[in-house]
Amino acid sequence: MAEKILLTGGAGYIGSHTYVALIDAGYEVTILDNFTNANRSVVDRLEQLTGKPVSIAEADIRDATTLAGLFAEHQFDAVVHFAALKAVGESVERPLDYFDVNISGLINLLRVMDAAGCRRIVFSSSATVYGVPDETPTPETAEFRAMNPYGQTKISGEQILNQLVAADERWKVGILRYFNPAGAHDSALIGEDPRDIPNNLMPYIAKVAAGELAELQVFGDDYDTPDGTGVRDYIHVVDLAKGHVLSLAALLGEGQGHLVNLGTGEGHSVLEVVSAYKRASNRDVPYRITERRAGDVPVYVARADKAEEVLGFRTEHTLDQMCASSWKWITGPHSQEDPGPEGNA
Ligand code: NAD
Ligand code: WQD
Repeated sequence: MAEKILLTGGAGYIGSHTYVALIDAGYEVTILDNFTNANRSVVDRLEQLTGKPVSIAEADIRDATTLAGLFAEHQFDAVVHFAALKAVGESVERPLDYFDVNISGLINLLRVMDAAGCRRIVFSSSATVYGVPDETPTPETAEFRAMNPYGQTKISGEQILNQLVAADERWKVGILRYFNPAGAHDSALIGEDPRDIPNNLMPYIAKVAAGELAELQVFGDDYDTPDGTGVRDYIHVVDLAKGHVLSLAALLGEGQGHLVNLGTGEGHSVLEVVSAYKRASNRDVPYRITERRAGDVPVYVARADKAEEVLGFRTEHTLDQMCASSWKWITGPHSQEDPGPEGNA
């Protein structure tokens, strides 16, 4: 019988792509999402993509009663936990909201899982836990450095999970530290489309290329990088989704817990991303060099070999493919429909 998975935050950007990958891999998946940062129409589009009805609970991860009811109903074998708040700037302004959803929400989920005897979880962590790393490409052994409340919540989440495993070996935990997710599903049915002015580079460039925003501000060209602009390890969201399927298989198969970076191991500068997007969209992307953005890190690139060794994870998509799929999504019929409160997916 197919193994049953609870996918929290499954209506969001990475969660919706992971839903498709999990269904393709033969899992039975239930999404839990409160739609604070997702568009309700994603459910129809996931049905269109997979050809199957979506099992979805509209609920908050902090709601223990609803969660316990779901576990009683579905007897989940494992959880893939995406649901969280993720805007760095907002976390500086409203830290308590971030601690509440990202830390209290996680603890609430773990308590319900424990009571239900479901002790396998894949956790969305982030390269942000490294702060400004001493070493690039950055290995998983680099120390924790919180740069803001959001980063602190990911560090705390990892520590809570590690201490849980130390206390009770029945817990099997996969911690995945994502670098910079980008791109969209090639169907153009799901993707990332923040309704407000985007914080992240690729959605911002997409809106400039589409003529919705006048120009990109390039935050600094005096970093110690080949062209002076910030360098990041962009990873196609479809590759990232596949990483979750492999993580889950390791937890459910041999019960192998793991902590891995998910990146390509290759860095691209802001100006390289601009050039790639221009090629993909065949549009101009006007930009202006401005001051550095406060709190920015010059270079984030993953040491990617551990994920390959432990999970057999390898990325397949290039930066050009990330830009092409982003452009296809942003110019497709679904990207602008019925935006949710903040408008993802
Ligand atoms: P997203 O905002 O698109 O998805 C998160 C989903 O969780 C949304 O659908 C939202 O409605 C839901 N959600 C939020 N609070 C909830 C709550 N209290 N109860 C139930 N559902 C709730 O974000 P994403 O980019 O898909 O990120 C998914 C995960 O990956 C997050 O944990 C994020 O911190 C982590 N992450 C993201 C990035 C990135 O750059 N996108 C990088 C590293 C890590
Ligand atoms: C990438 C590069 C900017 C926008 C953030 C979070 C991190 C993680 C992913 C969740 C940098 C430059 C950007 C713009 C620019 N999220 N840039 N003009 O900062 O690597 O990571 O998202 O875990 O926690 O901090 O991603 O896309 O914002 O920036 O020049 O308008 O693009 O300076 O060099 P970042 P980003």
